[in-house]
Amino acid sequence: MDKYIGIDLGTSAVKLLLVDGDGNILNTVTKDYPLMFPHPGWSEQDPGEWWKACCAGIPELLEGYDGNSVKGIAAGGQMHGLVALDENDEVIRPAILWNDGRTAEETDWLNTQIGKDRLSELTANIAFAGFTAPKILWMKKNEPENFRRIAKIMLPKDYINYMLTGVHSCDYSDASGMLLLDVKNKCWSKEMLDICGICEDLMPKLFESYEVIGTVKQDIAAALGIQENVKVAAGAGDNAAAAVGTGTVGEGGCTISLGTSGTLFISSDHFSVDPNNALHAFAHADGGYHLMGCMLSAASCNKWLCEDILKTVDYGAEQAEITDDMLGNNHVFFLPYLMGERSPINDVDARGTFTGMTMDTKREDIVQAVLEGVAFAIRDSFEVAKSLGIDIPSSKICGGGAKSPLWKKIMANVLGIPLELVKTEQGPGYGAAMLAMVACGKYDSVKEAAEALVETAETVEPDEELTARYEKQYQKFRRIYPALKPVFSAIK
Ligand code: XUL
Repeated sequence: MDKYIGIDLGTSAVKLLLVDGDGNILNTVTKDYPLMFPHPGWSEQDPGEWWKACCAGIPELLEGYDGNSVKGIAAGGQMHGLVALDENDEVIRPAILWNDGRTAEETDWLNTQIGKDRLSELTANIAFAGFTAPKILWMKKNEPENFRRIAKIMLPKDYINYMLTGVHSCDYSDASGMLLLDVKNKCWSKEMLDICGICEDLMPKLFESYEVIGTVKQDIAAALGIQENVKVAAGAGDNAAAAVGTGTVGEGGCTISLGTSGTLFISSDHFSVDPNNALHAFAHADGGYHLMGCMLSAASCNKWLCEDILKTVDYGAEQAEITDDMLGNNHVFFLPYLMGERSPINDVDARGTFTGMTMDTKREDIVQAVLEGVAFAIRDSFEVAKSLGIDIPSSKICGGGAKSPLWKKIMANVLGIPLELVKTEQGPGYGAAMLAMVACGKYDSVKEAAEALVETAETVEPDEELTARYEKQYQKFRRIYPALKPVFSAIK
């Protein structure tokens, strides 16, 4: 049977999936790569490491399978990262990633001098530190030599697509996060390119996520153990790809992702903008659009606490100490702003903070506070969506954090809605494989693929009493950031 490879190009690792045309996951391989924090709040990665990980991982993924049966490949990738290539298509400097906060000045300049209204008219969004345009301005000012050498700009998964096919491409969902795309009309904004001092020649060609950009080059195909006519689809930003993988397509879908970042993703057939731009207005990988709230540190807060502070990788053991009676009764609160924060507060100076500790505070209260702090911060974006009149009666949930039964329970009760987990929950990689299937003609549309392949495995229902307890807790949580905001800018 024909097979497809889905690539999830994440922040800490690439996760590769081998999927057959019926959607069965045959094999998965994960390859880690280093993440560099050259200054506090900065975050960089070497695109060469992404490619190395894919080249090592794909042959391993295919071990025991017939490589000739692979028909299509697509990637869902970490969004917004600036990959700059020179005239020989060599990487000029490490990629500046989505969770990098160095561009406070450029972000501020764009939002005040160009103005939020104009930015929103041009791109449907305002500037956030992690978006690509402020990074280009940063490079122009701080690394003029590097800036002058730029011959092509692309996003992380587009670099993989380029290495596979030799084609400079980008899909609309990922391009939306550059602040260079006229999202509504799906074309580069000439005015935004001018503002950043770049011309359209530097930009990759735009595609829908499920369109074929090219086929795998002969030498690469031989090295990977696949045929050279394998089709490569444009792929998507990781959140759009994950949404496809959970069947969050078309009008009125919602999915929450608890990955390194945390997102609330609302799909729609129609273009719309949050008038306050707290939620991003982006194109979706199904050909439609979505609104999205993105917090910069979600599952990464728990990883940080367990691995870096408590020195354990046994997350389950830490959570086993948190009993039902403790839920909704924690006196410890945590602001999950370990990399500053994007949605909805847009504050690069915000920092992770514990408050409410007393002499009887235990280790498990702290662990619980971290899980709850992330849930409350997702609720902040959920409240913005509600204020726009969007009804979210239930949501899908995905990402590494969704593996924790306790975290899912906390999330369902903090939001007060049922959360559904799909059978094939594999994050962006599965959605990417679905995009490859559509590109190869296995399904006529992303919607059709989702109807055929995505099934709910489990629903976590909220409990009335616990939801009420969490409502009180959330109201307390909401008071902490506004009180600390001036402190964060004073201590930076
Ligand atoms: C979305 C965002 C993150 C990254 C994570 O706007 O910045 O979710 O895509 O990989």
